[in-house]
Amino acid sequence: MGKDGTDLNSYPFLMAPGQIAALSLRNRILMAPMGDALANPDGTVSKRQLDYYEARARGGAALIIVGSVAVTYPGGAFSADQTALHTDEHIAGITELALRVQRHGARLALQLTHGGPQSLYAIETGNPLLMPAPPTYKGPDRISRTLSPQEQFAMSAPFQQPTSRVDIHIATEEELLAAIEAFAAAAERATRAGVDGVEIHGGHGYLLDSFRSPSTNTREDEWGGTRDKRDRLLLETIRSVRSRVGAHYPMWCRFNSVEHHREPHETIEDALYLATNLIEAGVDALHVSAYSDPSIATGITDAHTPHIPGALLAAAAAVRAHIKEAVPVITVGNLDDELAENALATGAADFVAMGRRLLADPELPNKLRDGVPDHVRPCIYQYRCIGNIFLNTHVACIANPLTAREGAAPPEFSRPHTTQEPEHILIIGAGPAGLDAAWRLAERGHFVTIQDAATQLGGRLSLAALADEHLSKMLNYLIGQVRRSNVELRLGQPAAAPDLEGFDRVVLATGADWSRPDIPGAENGNVLTLNDLTPWASGEMRLPDGPVAILGGGKAGLTLARLARSGGHEVTVIEETHVFAIELGLPGRFRWIADLEASGVTLLSEHRATSINQDSVTVMSGDSKIVEIESATTICTVPVTPRNDLLELLFESGAMGEVIGDAHSLERLEGAFRDAEALSSRL
Ligand SMILES: Cc1cc2nc3c(=O)[nH]c(=O)nc-3n(C[C@H](O)[C@H](O)[C@H](O)COP(=O)(O)O)c2cc1C
Ligand code: SF4
Repeated sequence: MGKDGTDLNSYPFLMAPGQIAALSLRNRILMAPMGDALANPDGTVSKRQLDYYEARARGGAALIIVGSVAVTYPGGAFSADQTALHTDEHIAGITELALRVQRHGARLALQLTHGGPQSLYAIETGNPLLMPAPPTYKGPDRISRTLSPQEQFAMSAPFQQPTSRVDIHIATEEELLAAIEAFAAAAERATRAGVDGVEIHGGHGYLLDSFRSPSTNTREDEWGGTRDKRDRLLLETIRSVRSRVGAHYPMWCRFNSVEHHREPHETIEDALYLATNLIEAGVDALHVSAYSDPSIATGITDAHTPHIPGALLAAAAAVRAHIKEAVPVITVGNLDDELAENALATGAADFVAMGRRLLADPELPNKLRDGVPDHVRPCIYQYRCIGNIFLNTHVACIANPLTAREGAAPPEFSRPHTTQEPEHILIIGAGPAGLDAAWRLAERGHFVTIQDAATQLGGRLSLAALADEHLSKMLNYLIGQVRRSNVELRLGQPAAAPDLEGFDRVVLATGADWSRPDIPGAENGNVLTLNDLTPWASGEMRLPDGPVAILGGGKAGLTLARLARSGGHEVTVIEETHVFAIELGLPGRFRWIADLEASGVTLLSEHRATSINQDSVTVMSGDSKIVEIESATTICTVPVTPRNDLLELLFESGAMGEVIGDAHSLERLEGAFRDAEALSSRL
């Protein structure tokens, strides 16, 4: 039995050692390849990357796969800070990375990539963009354009430099042979760097896949025209790498099981056909992913970074059955513990790759091994991680403020790092900032009390958790962490001056005030603010029949819209800007918008409510047109202001004071977790 009496053998399949050719792996959990944009600006490995990957190796993953390592650079690369291995000068950093990973019992692999048509850094540096055929340009769809001005600016940066040039270049045979050679040379460098294996990126629209896709490869020469000819570039690359690295060096391929939102497109039959040929060409494993046309906003969440749990499992199972288990199959894509264990137990796959969950908690594999799955900090699927990559900045995580900042934490941050000067700390407010700060500070050895006027832990997160299963998991995790720590609880007690006595430090984590807009009718009986919603969200109360209008299109507004729609109401969300759920990373935001619209919710952007009436809301558009929106009930999620009315109490107490989370600035969960971590690592 493990800690908490948990059965240590809960995940026998996930924890079983495995083998990819000569590569012995301690368990079946691989870190999925994720471009991190954390390298030095010349593509060499940075200190930040060493810390980032070492944390995941220490956390128990069997194999770390570094995502998208450029085989040519700057042409063929996405950004200056993409890891590259196109020269011998890049070997030293990779060698150090391998050592940092291997010293924890994990193994290191590199995903070798040529960006082909998606090489933004080629554009930025004025290098040619290699393509199979002239592109049929489809601009981003409507939802893909719901970006803030800052996001638009960030996305356009590669096109705005003095050196920028879009030089579309249809690849000649010589250039294709040079690209194949670049893969082989990079793979050979990986062997010299002490890397344990290489994954050839044959998917996701990059060079090798752009030749596979009937949608982008319309050539009629020896590199296109039939399925075999379209697959040729990938297969020749595999053969070339195999002959360069030798028969026994672990090498495998990631490829699409299907392409979404394209006509014509790669199909699962194409993938099965390719799988057999890949094995014949010399791969030791198959990593089954998916792709989508990049112009479609929901493409990413329909494909390789799915929003539906286990979305790629069936494809992996089909491949594994088709190849009759000739080589191991790696599956990936929104896998919780049970799905991952079952994928192995039922023979859908031999290994599971996990991406986002390892960003949210690098220690996940160790925690499963130790029988404490409840201790895993959950991913909340808000997509800051991959969203950042599209904004040309580095990977980061809303749930885990230490992601990409691992070096800022104490070296062994996974273990409690105890303070030399324990303080008595009162945290006022048991919302996400307060809860996260409480257990972290207690783990650091402080004596922590958390006080809240409410009788239960969670603050506003409790309401959100009723309508969002990911936030529900986060709430349970935070409460669990607090209960497991030595934190004293004072619930059902509004803070008053005597409560602050005897504490060295008082932390205000009182969140935000959600009020009514200053417009006629806002005080009507048919108007609800977030304060009134818990009985409805928990199912104890029904909203009156009839349409619902929601003021404010942030994540809270969209979550409530989903809840109201599922209760059968006509729903309109009214947002003043043209961006909904601005606090979410891009693909997550797009997903929410698309799903809500598909469910029949009306999202009205660039409109402002001017009055609330008995059965309607009057709204005004940016160009001053007045529209009446029918509504039996109006829910206000704006305006929101930091709630720091206890500041005076704090000043008078004479204790050291801190203000964190929304009480400090309205940055929602991301700000709450960042502040909580920063406070605990400072004290
Ligand atoms: C930040 C981020 C970067 C990614 N970069 C790559 C990449 O470079 N190469 C690749 O094949 N897939 C990439 N992916 C997709 C992941 O490998 C994986 O398929 C996806 O995250 C789904 O797995 P998950 O649900 O466990 O996160 C990326 C995903 C994320 C979140
Ligand atoms: S940013 Fe969001 S989706 Fe990405 S790993 Fe973190 S919690 Fe998960």
